[in-house]
Amino acid sequence: MVDFFLQSNIIMHLLKFLISVPSIQTDPSKGATSKRSLFSVSSSRTYSTPTTLPVQSYGEKTGSVILPTPRTEGEILSSSQLKAFTFGDLKNATRNFRPDSLLGEGGFGYVYKGWIDEQTFSASRPGCGMVVAVKKLKPESFQGHKEWLTEVNYLGQLHHPNLVKLIGYCSEGDNKLLVYEFMPKGSLENHLFRRSAQPLSWATRIKVAIGAARGLTFLHDAESQVIYRDFKASNILLDSEFNAKLSDFGLAKAGPTGDKTHVSTQIIGTHGYAAPEYIATGRLSVKADVYSFGVVLLELLSGRRAVDKSKMGVEQNLVEWAKPYLGDKRKLYRIMDTRLEGQYPKKGAHAVSVLALQCIDHEAKLRPRMSEILASLEQLQDPKAAVVPLQADQYKASKPISKSPMRHHPAPISC
Ligand SMILES: Nc1ncnc2c1ncn2[C@@H]1O[C@H](COP(=O)(O)OP(=O)(O)O)[C@@H](O)[C@H]1O
Ligand SMILES: [Mg+2]
Repeated sequence: MVDFFLQSNIIMHLLKFLISVPSIQTDPSKGATSKRSLFSVSSSRTYSTPTTLPVQSYGEKTGSVILPTPRTEGEILSSSQLKAFTFGDLKNATRNFRPDSLLGEGGFGYVYKGWIDEQTFSASRPGCGMVVAVKKLKPESFQGHKEWLTEVNYLGQLHHPNLVKLIGYCSEGDNKLLVYEFMPKGSLENHLFRRSAQPLSWATRIKVAIGAARGLTFLHDAESQVIYRDFKASNILLDSEFNAKLSDFGLAKAGPTGDKTHVSTQIIGTHGYAAPEYIATGRLSVKADVYSFGVVLLELLSGRRAVDKSKMGVEQNLVEWAKPYLGDKRKLYRIMDTRLEGQYPKKGAHAVSVLALQCIDHEAKLRPRMSEILASLEQLQDPKAAVVPLQADQYKASKPISKSPMRHHPAPISC
């Protein structure tokens, strides 16, 4: 979940805390004036049992949101519709977490492919029943238990076509696991950056950006706002048709309430994706997600990673390297992914680059809202929107990608 913890900022953070004074701050997106709250920092987090988290409650039929209430671990686990698996169930479902069923690895844990019975949810033989992805907490994982519970909490309650579906969990002593719907095309990261992956067409890149934008818009516009906090290519998962779903809610955080523009929190994130004001102050708002969204747009345009240590100087950081070329029609081609082989509409690419530039604005207030970004991206997908192909004669509609960089998963067989 978390690639790094920006510890060096804590010292800066503390210094600022000592010299800061309350001041008035306005955020036009909230249309209100509020007092800036002072922030608190902790360099390490301790876990007490039971852990309490603020959560939303959702009205059963209307999907309407009731105010957040702190809940204990027991309350979170018992109130959700999630299946409680035993460790033995998941051991069997993944054939004892066999290395060859490993789907991916994040900061929180290893993710394995497994099989369960569709009706009973008990482990089934490989190839029988339903495929699932099982995430197993790494014993050494930094603040793993809290992230596990945060994920159960949010994904147990939030349901949307662009959020990955959580089926259940396991909590047996130190064994903390999560069971998700299986996403056959894996993560966006694998498709964009793995050498063995087939290049994504322009149309697919736009489709993925729209799916992810829908997921973030849903979180930001919920009555009890949710800040996702770890938006990046490895947390965007893809189904068989390249519909994007956000996964990995371990860092998600309830947004500010009332007149507040941000929540003050521990600085955790991923290098290259985290917004500058959040890194500098620990003040978190939905605009930090918008910044990260802009970075992913740049990854989609350029096929380069947010941070690439194998490169030299300014090229190591995608935002710094790409910024001078964005929004300039004559220069943009210099940062475009060569794997697109020029097969993209020039106007569309320009529009995405302008959008990315707005998202990564240093001034959080000036960044657009996710709903505005979504509307702009949807226009690009609309065939009526005039997009002139770079090489009109060569431009082809996206071809379905036959091969996935993930292991090939056979269709279920009758059992
Ligand atoms: N539901 C899933 N289906 C297929 N692959 C998955 C699924 N969930 C995770 N993965 C793979 O595992 C990787 C790590 O998962 P993630 O949830 O981000 O873990 P962490 O919380 O440890 O960062 C992802 O980048 C992806 O490649
Ligand atoms: Mg992750």
